[in-house]
Order: sequence, then C-alpha cells, then structure tokens
Amino acid sequence: MDERLFFPATLRNRSVIGEVLDECLPQNGITLEIASGSGEHGVTFQKRFPNIIWQASDSDQSCRRSINSWIRHERLTGKMPLAIDLSVEKTPWPLTKKFISKLSSIVCINLIHIAHWDCTQFLFKESGKYLKRGSPLILYGPFIRENVHTAESNTIFDRSLKNRNKDWGIRNLEAVDEIAKGSGFKRSKLITMPANNFSVIYNRT
Ligand SMILES: C[S@@+](CC[C@H](N)C(=O)[O-])C[C@H]1O[C@@H](n2cnc3c(N)ncnc32)[C@H](O)[C@@H]1O
Repeated sequence: MDERLFFPATLRNRSVIGEVLDECLPQNGITLEIASGSGEHGVTFQKRFPNIIWQASDSDQSCRRSINSWIRHERLTGKMPLAIDLSVEKTPWPLTKKFISKLSSIVCINLIHIAHWDCTQFLFKESGKYLKRGSPLILYGPFIRENVHTAESNTIFDRSLKNRNKDWGIRNLEAVDEIAKGSGFKRSKLITMPANNFSVIYNRT
C-alpha cells in the first residue's frame, strides 16, 4: 500500500541541506534522524550517502508509515532500516547497544520550533548520552538571533506557530547554545541557508 506523505518544503530544501551534510557528516556509521516526517529527506540522504546507514524516526505513526512506504518506493529495502518510533521526550530512546556503538551523527530538521521547549532540552540531553566525543548533532530550521527575528517572514511564521500552540515558536539560537552546552555540546558551525533558515552544527565535547 502506498502510504507516502509529501511535504513540499522537503523538495525545496533537500539539496541545500545535502550540501551541508556533505561537509559535516561522518563517512560511515549510523545517522539517526529525529522527527523525519514524511521520510522524503531520509530516502534522499540514504541515496546521497550510501556508506552511511540512515535511520529515520518519528513519534507519529502516519509519518513512520510514510517513511517506510518511501523506503519501499525508492527500493531501499534492506539498505535503509525501517523507521523507529522515537519521541524525543520519551527517554531513554529505544536504541540498542549495538546501534549506539555505530551511531556517528544525529540530524534534526524542522522540529524544535514545532514542539515544546522541553523537546529541545531532551534532544540535547539524550543525544549527549549516545554520541561519542566529536560526533555532530545537526539542526536545521529558523532561529532568532540575539532576540531578533532574522526576517519579517519569520516574525509572521513565529506568530502563526504560537497561534497554533502557545508552547511552539522559533527558538533563540543563544538559548539553544546554552542548552547544548549543558548537555556537553559546543556549536562549531552556523550556516545561513535559503528562506531565512540556518544549519547549526554542534559537536559532542
Ligand atoms: C515540521 S515536521 C518536520 C518533518 C521533517 N523533518 C521535515 O523537515 O520535513 C515535524 C515533525 O516532528 C515530529 N515530532 C513532533 N514532536 C515530536 C517529538 N516529540 N519527538 C519526535 N518527533 C516529533 C512530527 O511528527 C513531524 O513529523
């Protein structure tokens, strides 16, 4: 059964995110993608980085079905593992010792502004338990810089997020850096991306 979902933004940002990953993903091991959504990023990056095992995940069942449907559609069965049921704030994350031993990076695209602030804290705290020294945690999305929105469209987007859920909203990069530091991460790179987004690379210290 075709259960694929289509998230239009992934069509626009997959290649520019891929270019960032070219620079900062380790050459091998497992990449754990948090909040994979439709799975379109996952299958794209599994094909772009064949030496890595791309492990997609999401807390939402219809997203996990979509990811698995995309894996079948792209004929990646046997190469790319099926999506795991992972909710950032449900700890410990359901990862085996064998998986953790091979884990070389964590990628999280467009989650932290569409989730409670606790989610950011859990994301770093849990990632800090599993990533080895030097390994990257890569975030992508819109950010506020020093309490100022980086574009008028982000101000409007932030307001619309808060109208949908008062606990959502674009996060202040410096506040995220603080959380990161508290969980043993240091920001090593900030890359300005199209459409007023950023890629933010943290490394486990
Ligand atoms: C805006 S979508 C982004 C999906 C995908 N990363 C992308 O960029 O297209 C946010 C995703 O986060 C997932 N999500 C929300 N809260 C979550 C949580 N606490 N833990 C894991 N995933 C979560 C949702 O199910 C949804 O798939």
